[in-house]
Amino acid sequence: MVPTALSILVVAPLLCSIGLALPASDSSVPTTPQPAAYIPTAFYVGTSPVLGGLTNYSGRSFSLTETSPLVTLDYAAEVGGFPFFEVSSISGPSQIEVKYTEAFDGLNQPFADGPWTFSNGLANTFRTETFNITEPGIYSSFFNQGGLRWQAVRLLTNGEIQFSAVGLRPSVEIYPVDSLPGSFSASKQDYSGVWGLGARTVQAACVEAGSQPSTWEVTDQGMLIRGQQPAQSVNGTSFSNYTMSFSTKILRGGTGWRVAAGLGGGYGPYFVLTSDYDNESAFVNTNRTLMPPNSLIFGYGWSIVNQTTLTTGPTQTFAIPMRISEDEWYEISTEISASGFNVSVDGQPAAFILIDEAITWATPVFGSSSPTAGTWGFGPFQDQIAYFRDVTVVAENGTRLYTNDLMSNSTLDEYGINTNKHSVCLDGPKRDRLIWTGDFAHTLRTVLASTNRTDFIQGFFQNTFEWQLDAGPGAGLVATDAPMGASSAYKEGYFPSFYPFVDYQIFVLDVVGQYYWYSGDIAILRDYWSNITKLAAAVLAEVDPVTSLAGGGAGDFYFLAQGYFNATAPSALLHLSLQRLAGVATALNDSSAAALYSSTASNLSVAINARLWSDSIGTYSNALLDPNNYTLAAAAFPILAGIANTSQATSAISKLSILFHSIGYKDSSAVPSTNLTQLSPNIQGFLLESLFVAHLNLDVAADVVVPVITNLLDVFWPKMLNQNQYYTGATWEYLYPDGSPGIGLYTSLSHPWGSAPTYVLSSYVLGVRPLEPGYKTWVFEPVLMLELGLQWAEGRVPTPYGTIEARWEIADGNVRMTVKGPSGTSGVCRLRGGKAREVNKRDADDDVHEVVVIGGERITVVFDT
Ligand SMILES: *[C@@H]1O[C@H](CO)[C@@H](O)[C@H](O)[C@H]1NC(C)=O
Ligand SMILES: *[C@@H]1O[C@H](CO)[C@@H](O)[C@H](O)[C@H]1NC(C)=O
Ligand SMILES: *[C@@H]1O[C@H](CO)[C@@H](O)[C@H](O)[C@H]1NC(C)=O
Ligand SMILES: *[C@@H]1O[C@H](CO)[C@@H](O)[C@H](O)[C@H]1NC(C)=O
Ligand SMILES: *[C@@H]1O[C@H](CO)[C@@H](O)[C@H](O)[C@H]1NC(C)=O
Ligand SMILES: *[C@@H]1O[C@H](CO)[C@@H](O)[C@H](O)[C@H]1NC(C)=O
Ligand SMILES: *[C@@H]1O[C@H](CO)[C@@H](O)[C@H](O)[C@H]1NC(C)=O
Ligand SMILES: *[C@@H]1O[C@H](CO)[C@@H](O)[C@H](O)[C@H]1NC(C)=O
Ligand SMILES: *[C@@H]1O[C@H](CO)[C@@H](O)[C@H](O)[C@H]1NC(C)=O
Ligand SMILES: *[C@@H]1O[C@H](CO)[C@@H](O)[C@H](O)[C@H]1NC(C)=O
Ligand SMILES: *[C@@H]1O[C@H](CO)[C@@H](O)[C@H](O)[C@H]1NC(C)=O
Repeated sequence: MVPTALSILVVAPLLCSIGLALPASDSSVPTTPQPAAYIPTAFYVGTSPVLGGLTNYSGRSFSLTETSPLVTLDYAAEVGGFPFFEVSSISGPSQIEVKYTEAFDGLNQPFADGPWTFSNGLANTFRTETFNITEPGIYSSFFNQGGLRWQAVRLLTNGEIQFSAVGLRPSVEIYPVDSLPGSFSASKQDYSGVWGLGARTVQAACVEAGSQPSTWEVTDQGMLIRGQQPAQSVNGTSFSNYTMSFSTKILRGGTGWRVAAGLGGGYGPYFVLTSDYDNESAFVNTNRTLMPPNSLIFGYGWSIVNQTTLTTGPTQTFAIPMRISEDEWYEISTEISASGFNVSVDGQPAAFILIDEAITWATPVFGSSSPTAGTWGFGPFQDQIAYFRDVTVVAENGTRLYTNDLMSNSTLDEYGINTNKHSVCLDGPKRDRLIWTGDFAHTLRTVLASTNRTDFIQGFFQNTFEWQLDAGPGAGLVATDAPMGASSAYKEGYFPSFYPFVDYQIFVLDVVGQYYWYSGDIAILRDYWSNITKLAAAVLAEVDPVTSLAGGGAGDFYFLAQGYFNATAPSALLHLSLQRLAGVATALNDSSAAALYSSTASNLSVAINARLWSDSIGTYSNALLDPNNYTLAAAAFPILAGIANTSQATSAISKLSILFHSIGYKDSSAVPSTNLTQLSPNIQGFLLESLFVAHLNLDVAADVVVPVITNLLDVFWPKMLNQNQYYTGATWEYLYPDGSPGIGLYTSLSHPWGSAPTYVLSSYVLGVRPLEPGYKTWVFEPVLMLELGLQWAEGRVPTPYGTIEARWEIADGNVRMTVKGPSGTSGVCRLRGGKAREVNKRDADDDVHEVVVIGGERITVVFDT
């Protein structure tokens, strides 16, 4: 059987199973029915995509015709899965072009909001896909679409096609926000809405082990690879000036490969060889300017098309002097020489690509260090399909360096494209689908406040420590952005390129401490304790002996200090992480580790205040070598870490107004204010918590923190909630000052690093926090509710012992607080500056400022304010 992009599903028609519950396999997962399919909620049939005026869709049939060829499908919010179509009738052989996108405008673009050229993330790296519909039946895409809200289907051919169902077979489990273990709502609707954005994001971006299948297929004819971003062998990273040969058989359209490339997205030379498109084998929408038949198309960089900020080199096209038929094997070889790339087909010269300014214009970020060095990889372009086998790599001196018939499963690990092994959270479901360790600082807290999916936390530890280097110059470090499909058996090959940011190493220590505080789960940390102490040792080796600040050298501090060393924010984060880690060490009876972490933390705190506090600018400097610039992170982390005192915190927060730009705060005073300035929900998320901490722990006045909090919670985050053309029900990666997505269509509109309000609202505005690890004792103490203009808030907070239910409301000038915690715990109910008047409808004694709550009992306390 010749595989095509469509495979007829052998399962019973999906329509029958829609709405049926899947058995819940994990007790921490709610029993709310999970749909067997994600079905659009609204649709519109017409000539072009429409944003408004869609009609409710509930699985009814619709037709596309020459006069009304396009249906717009709206899933209402972020979903992800394998697209399917049930075709009930067609007037003749047809082709349909399908687009997928998060932001609506993607439907108007040739590649929708894609393609994803930064990495191959075990999903379709293209967002436009074409299907050959020859008879009625159920058609399903081979590829997972990681994340989308909108879809369009356009009939490309004459006649009529009738669909009885369309939808996605889920690749992630997304439950309605109101059915999760955690919840939050408040009298300001936007606060409730923003809480829900984070809760959806950590469902859309967290994938279960085995749920994201390999996008390469091992067959006895070789590797079958459908059009996708090339995946590279980790075995060739140190090779240069070689000749790489392989055999290929095109099944549709063309074949594609790389040499002298980087890992990951494979930045470097990219070659696509097209067939002669005989026998109508190319789809009618094939762009014959970009992809002429019987040609070699060459690009240097990410791909052969530009994608917003990820620009790639200009494309060169060569007509080749031989005929390339489909269903025939050819041997292709690419020789890297000092002057260029020499491509031959079956031993005949086919094209020569000069290494000239067309190539050297490119900055080799994330790629290999030169156009003649680096590994090789395979991946045809959009909608193409080809087999690949018998790869050989021969050095300049004739030595054979590598052979692989591409017929064994072990090849998937070598090319970093195997089915995901762990349950992990990605940076975003649509792209880059990498497991960024630093992003997990927010993800962890949001998961614990909402879904309580602790399996993803266990998966984080498994994956992170499996990627820890045992020896060599990076010993002890963990990969900061391991690709989901890559195997840790090859981790040394990914060093140093996938171990770049020291701040992301420190965040792993932070996650360890935070996880202990919220879960009390010492057992899992005991299992990983030797890994954790080795990581801590590797990070402590970066502390500068002269300055006692976080130095660096094994990588930089890109996110927290704009690339500077000896900087405030990473040093304060390290202080905070070591303090928490000392608590874990104590719980594990490792007193020497506890002493080392505590004393290093003290030194960091002294050094930060001595060397980086600047009276002249009235805040912390970004870094020793950047003394007059200041950053959001350099304000937030010294407060979160308890390093700043009240006057420092007050001054640092007051200074933030200069970083405010239109709708939110810039990362740094070094960043110019333009209409393309990227405003980061990640960094502003840390800031948001620090403002509540400053008020609660340092008594920084409400009129200092509240204007900043309301800029964040009433202006910035609601942009993700209240703009239908961009709305996904999830939190975003970046925003522009006009409130639109901050990397254009490329922006991930489902990024857990933007989800901080979810846990901040639960912890401070609802006001439920642990007082001991795992909420053995806890406090119910909302803050700033009057100043934030709130009338009430209520919610559920998951704990290892069960749920804490809490509600407060302002009534008759008093605050009525009701709470019930799980048995086995106890809590205190209190209000800053408030005195209890009534406990369970009985007058309280004089001078009662807090009321003890025994687990299992519901208690209502009225405080005067
Ligand atoms: C569509 O299917 C028909 C019948 O199997 C086949 O002849 C044709 O080549 C296919 N077209 C494409 C573009 O795959
Ligand atoms: C086809 O490709 C060319 C070259 O990349 C591009 O300029 C043109 O806009 C494309 N056409 C369509 C319809 O996408
Ligand atoms: C991408 O954009 C860059 C910069 O504008 C341009 O030089 C390059 O030719 C473009 N590449 C393609 C493939 O269009
Ligand atoms: C590969 O070839 C380039 C260009 O001739 C040369 O500069 C480079 O040193 C060579 N690399 C190795 C490892 O020999
Ligand atoms: C040939 O080149 C390879 C790769 O550069 C090298 O490892 C090998 O030692 C060389 N062999 C000889 C005989 O020079
Ligand atoms: C790739 O490298 C690994 C580890 O060195 C080795 O076991 C494997 O055989 C190599 N693969 C090929 C195809 O040479
Ligand atoms: C390769 O993996 C697939 C999917 O896991 C499995 O069905 C197949 O048996 C494996 N093949 C070999 C040769 O191990
Ligand atoms: C980290 O833990 C894994 C087990 O999860 C273990 O196999 C590995 O050797 C440890 N690495 C280091 C550097 O201790
Ligand atoms: C940190 O500052 C010290 C003292 O100026 C300097 O010696 C050291 O090189 C700095 N660290 C880095 C990584 O630049
Ligand atoms: C802030 O940083 C920018 C970029 O590094 C630099 O050009 C500028 O001079 C700095 N500003 C001050 C006030 O030091
Ligand atoms: C949260 O997850 C933990 C660990 O799986 C479990 O023990 C606890 O019961 C859960 N809590 C809630 C409220 O679901």
